[in-house]
Amino acid sequence: MNRTLGVCYYPEHWSEDDWARDAALMAQTGLTWVRIGEFAWSRLEPRPGEMDFGWLDRAIATLGAAGLKVVLGTPTATPPRWMIDRHPDMLPVDANGRVRGFGSRRHYCFSHPGYRAESRRIVRALAERYGANPHVAAWQTDNEYDCHDTTLSYSQAARRGFQDWLAQRYQSVDALNRAWGNVFWSMDYDDFSQIGLPNLTVTEPNPAHQLAFRRYSSDQVVAYNRAQVDEIRKYSSAPILHNYMGRITTFDHWKVGADLDIASWDSYPIGFLSDRIENPPERKLRFLRQGDPDNQAFHHDLYRAVGRGRWWVMEQQPGPVNWAPYNPAPLPGMARLWAWEAFAHGAECVSYFRWRQAPFAQEQMHAGLLRPDSAPAPALAEAAQVARELQAMPSVENATAPVALVFDYESAWAWDVQPQGADFDMFRLAFAAYRALRRAGLSIDILPPDCADLSAYKLVLAPGLMRLSDPLRAALGQYRGLALIGPRSDSKTAEMAIPVPLGPDLPGLDVTVALAESMPPDAQVPLAGGGAFRHWFEHLEGASEVSLATADGRPAIMGNRHLRYLAGWPDDATFDRIVAALAAEADLPVVAMPDGLRLRDTATHRFVINYAPEAQDWNGITIPAAGVHWEALG
Ligand code: GAL
Repeated sequence: MNRTLGVCYYPEHWSEDDWARDAALMAQTGLTWVRIGEFAWSRLEPRPGEMDFGWLDRAIATLGAAGLKVVLGTPTATPPRWMIDRHPDMLPVDANGRVRGFGSRRHYCFSHPGYRAESRRIVRALAERYGANPHVAAWQTDNEYDCHDTTLSYSQAARRGFQDWLAQRYQSVDALNRAWGNVFWSMDYDDFSQIGLPNLTVTEPNPAHQLAFRRYSSDQVVAYNRAQVDEIRKYSSAPILHNYMGRITTFDHWKVGADLDIASWDSYPIGFLSDRIENPPERKLRFLRQGDPDNQAFHHDLYRAVGRGRWWVMEQQPGPVNWAPYNPAPLPGMARLWAWEAFAHGAECVSYFRWRQAPFAQEQMHAGLLRPDSAPAPALAEAAQVARELQAMPSVENATAPVALVFDYESAWAWDVQPQGADFDMFRLAFAAYRALRRAGLSIDILPPDCADLSAYKLVLAPGLMRLSDPLRAALGQYRGLALIGPRSDSKTAEMAIPVPLGPDLPGLDVTVALAESMPPDAQVPLAGGGAFRHWFEHLEGASEVSLATADGRPAIMGNRHLRYLAGWPDDATFDRIVAALAAEADLPVVAMPDGLRLRDTATHRFVINYAPEAQDWNGITIPAAGVHWEALG
């Protein structure tokens, strides 16, 4: 596998006189890919129907002449101002009913048919013109679906679309009333046209209504993306990707990914540490300039699966960003470490965002590989170092990991709609499990909720799945490794009701969740032998064996040799204990990793990555802060 580096570039931000020099320096740095175009609609179509492709022709030619390959982005995340005059009702509407206006980006509602047609039109025009261009070697659809909370829009277009979608799904309004339980509070409808969006109600809307709107909204993202893919494929055989984000669960990435050739994501480790990942304050300080030691890896593993093995980092943080509450600079070496970590997880390309820091507009405080005055910023030399190291590096192939974690978007919607405890969050729960596996030195594969075969794995964790898909239920029933499901797994029907008989419903498991309780952050349910559950605790009944109990003798884990149910949300130390015990049973070697040091195994090499701000010892080798070490696997 050929691993490459790239960069995000905005030729329309710079004088044409700079392009050739920029391209030459990119090539000299060892970059292979340049992504361009994703926000350039106002320069591609200055007035409705008046296309100006000349500058883009020349930009692509200049980059291509320097030996660079282009990822061409479709510009639909930034419709030009005139578009709003043509489609005044295309703007997204927030949950409070306020229209979100022009003047930044992503100012469109996924449900608006007029804007979808405009998007198809501009994508078709680009694909027609560049589909056979030898330098355009990949495509990116739009930019970061859901960025700035844009999946959910409460517009009139969404309301109409939702009513149609409901009519197709339920066929009759009686069926919908039954499925949602609308007899409760006299919420019955007589006609689909009466059904509004689940916002601006007096108190909370019916959870089934909310989940339906989440499903509908996710389907709009899938359909919107598919429309672009369909246009590009008519004219180009180059691979198509989208740049997903970190910790975004509002749409089903598995479904969007099924229409694409490659998954990619935008990795901003320090920005995410500051505003997106739960950590105690002392941990935020410790990893201030490196990012959370597990967050990047989680998303690498997730998007490797979403891309069915093919994935990139489309945007890699190079220095301070502009958008987090605080924006420290990376420790020297991190721009290199983050790239190597991605390659260790199987990335085909790591592309830095952005080439030159823009001295104007919203992101003027966001670093690039070059400063605004074109002098090199610190990350440029680190990128060049990675490029050199890649040439010397033996080919690193991905290997199936010994452990799998199942991750499901629908469950994320379910628990958003009905957290039941203020801090219950699907990503947070799955990430807590993932972190525990990483602290045990394990390499992990993330699996979709409909996976039908677990036989490659010794250990499978599936926390928080609101309902088990038929294939997964069957796979768990036949599984000969060791699987841990729960808490909250298989606890809802597809319509967000409680199943009767109560779940979970798994062959060979005699366990029933009789009652679920949530707890505020400082409360806990102590466990026998130390540690505790926090946030969430379920009272289990049944005849299956209890393998872990609470301090007062209630079941904490129940099950059989191959399948266990976890009754609560373990704190970190408890998760470590549980993983160690399961791994021992599953015959899986674990290592208690020093804080901040992480392992990732490929088919041939073990990577040792040091996120800590100090040097760490690994089997007698000293790995400096921000250091990466690799060794051949014996
Ligand atoms: C990403 C986005 C880029 C840029 C970057 C800044 O979310 O795709 O366009 O805004 O963040 O960090």
